[in-house]
Amino acid sequence: MKILRHHVRDAEHRSYVPYSGKPRAAVILLSNGDWVCGVRIENACYPLVIPALTSALVSAASLGRRDVVAISVSDHFKDEDLTFIQQAVHQPLDQLQPDLLGLDHHAHHVGEPLSACQESSSVITSQTGIHLARRAIQYAHTPESDFPVGSIAVTDDHHYYQGVNIEYPDWTKILCAERAAIASAISHGDRHIKNIFVSAPKSLEITPCGACRQVIYELAPNATVWMDRGGEMIDHFHVKDLLPGGFTLKRTSGQNGSIIHSHPTCK
Ligand code: THU
Repeated sequence: MKILRHHVRDAEHRSYVPYSGKPRAAVILLSNGDWVCGVRIENACYPLVIPALTSALVSAASLGRRDVVAISVSDHFKDEDLTFIQQAVHQPLDQLQPDLLGLDHHAHHVGEPLSACQESSSVITSQTGIHLARRAIQYAHTPESDFPVGSIAVTDDHHYYQGVNIEYPDWTKILCAERAAIASAISHGDRHIKNIFVSAPKSLEITPCGACRQVIYELAPNATVWMDRGGEMIDHFHVKDLLPGGFTLKRTSGQNGSIIHSHPTCK
């Protein structure tokens, strides 16, 4: 398990924590030795923070992997982590160490990182992006809403990351597919997202929710968001049009590190 700890410490540096300055990472080990990392991703609107464990569990589930056999965090587990893990993982995990949960009767083998990111040899066209988002939907888990959504975040260098909505009984823990795809990209250190493809075939009218718009505004401000509702028509939006006057927070280097709220502007 030493190697799992090594991976989690390595991942911690990829956290996006400009407000708290407190990085955190989680690594999930799957039954065949594959592992997936997730990092803490903050937002100027603090309640929209994506916790490290959520990033990791949702990134794995977005690739159809829910066969968790161990989890490690870069600090130590808190009670709220354990409550969430009980909802997300359908088998009991024992606390082996303050930073490690596992099925202790398993001899764990740590293999390769699950390739959350795929690389395309050429530019991902809007058609391909929508095709991939539609294909991702097979992994959505929507017992609460029966409203599956798939998303693909594409970076400048043609990497792409998959996200779907995975619904937990505690709705506050659910990420929309768009945020799941972004969490996966950021957790892998890929911050230059230029296109976000979304597919939601059960709605003729879907556009990204307000929370996703705020997260996209901060983490992918130059992105184009492409929407598929299952038909022929694909809409696309620029982030500045999706969220005019989006909220930002800037930390000054002033005496006591005071925070200045920038005034939202509609441009
Ligand atoms: N949802 C998305 O994944 N993306 C959107 O743009 C809108 C809503 C999900 C969240 C939840 O699982 C379900 O759809 C109903 O809100």
